[in-house]
Amino acid sequence: MSVKIAPSILAADFSNLERDIKYINESKADWFHLDIMDGVFVPNISFGMPIVDTISKLALKPLDVHLMIVEPDRYIEIFSKLGSKILTVHYEACNHLHRTIQKIKSLGMKAGVALNPHSNINLLIDVIEDIDLVCLMSVNPGFGGQTFIENTYKKISQLKEIIENKNIKCLIEIDGGVNDVNANKLISCGANVLVAGSYVFKSGNPAFNIEKLKRF
Ligand code: DX5
Ligand code: ZN
Repeated sequence: MSVKIAPSILAADFSNLERDIKYINESKADWFHLDIMDGVFVPNISFGMPIVDTISKLALKPLDVHLMIVEPDRYIEIFSKLGSKILTVHYEACNHLHRTIQKIKSLGMKAGVALNPHSNINLLIDVIEDIDLVCLMSVNPGFGGQTFIENTYKKISQLKEIIENKNIKCLIEIDGGVNDVNANKLISCGANVLVAGSYVFKSGNPAFNIEKLKRF
């Protein structure tokens, strides 16, 4: 299976949102990655329901929604109604992660769990069989355009080993600072999904940048 590319809309030009969504629709990208930040779990606020609704109406590919918010259970249902296909919550934001995962899946979405750079892979050992996707944060969440944290490679390999040993289908997604310099190594360590914001939107042609990541 070739690597999936999920461009992060956080890096799009919001004054030309329809155009940028069209770029992704017409590119080789696989998903739309939507970063929802509440200013509490992370020190930044991004965008909310009206923008997700707009994107949902224009997007021709699955919405991969990354909730960087406290108490995400409050919003699972609404993101399902807004068309989220993959809904990712943070391990660090959930007191009852198992229950949260079941709730996401009961609404027909794929359940993702994100781990901050400081959180050990083994924290997921008792729920990994219930998770469809683990999002390894390769920057501290909250902002686009940050530098990739090198320790991520080790975490991918550790997670891949667990997934293989258990013979399960959980996807490994990498989020933050992904570009054409680190993509190859990320994939060889075991990454299945690459989120890329700045690399896709901030210079040159998004479709070409996506194709470059897809070629590794
Ligand atoms: C960070 C977000 C990322 C971010 C990625 O908190 O979760 O998805 O938008 O942006 P780049 O690729 O610019 O690091
Ligand atoms: Zn994200």
